[in-house]
Amino acid sequence: MGKIGLFYGSDTGCTEAVAEMIQEQLGEDVVDIYDVYDVSAEDFNKYDKWIIGLATWHDGQLVSAWDDYFDDYQELEFQGKTIAFFGLGDQYGYSNYFIDGVGTLGKVAIEKGAKLIGFWPTDGYEHDESKADMGDGNFMGLAIDEDNQDELTEERVTKWVQQIKGEFGI
Ligand SMILES: Cc1cc2nc3c(=O)[nH]c(=O)nc-3n(C[C@H](O)[C@H](O)[C@H](O)COP(=O)(O)O)c2cc1C
Repeated sequence: MGKIGLFYGSDTGCTEAVAEMIQEQLGEDVVDIYDVYDVSAEDFNKYDKWIIGLATWHDGQLVSAWDDYFDDYQELEFQGKTIAFFGLGDQYGYSNYFIDGVGTLGKVAIEKGAKLIGFWPTDGYEHDESKADMGDGNFMGLAIDEDNQDELTEERVTKWVQQIKGEFGI
């Protein structure tokens, strides 16, 4: 079993591809991947370190797998957990809702006592509003825009993975 559980939801495969990129860079022996369509609280409980990934859909809504799991998510044990979030979205097409899902899940995690890591600069993005924008120049997690800036994805993931390695202490 790896040290980190990565839990993602993806409707059209983009978040899944980024999840696999993150796993590859951190090591398959370090990260175990779960699609949230098929996950239980026991899977989360196995790990103290979580990476949570999701796309945002339909004007700020959680991607369907995370939407279905949201009630159960709120009941998870967050105390003692360290969590890094990453989100996929479209900063121009959905400029008022860019990666809102990260903000929705991240807020619950903070309120329930988790430690969040993996904050990411908002520089280089042109969204108008985002629930994931903490207002201090950072998003609550890595922001990936495959619709408009796919050429930056690999570089962003690589940099973020180095950052969370340090913050997770692995
Ligand atoms: C109908 C539709 C609604 C969307 N709504 C949002 C949104 O509210 N906020 C956002 O940041 N991105 C939004 N997106 C962009 C998706 O999040 C983006 O394409 C993402 O890469 C999809 O990831 P997935 O393949 O993992 O589902 C929307 C895309 C579509 C087609």
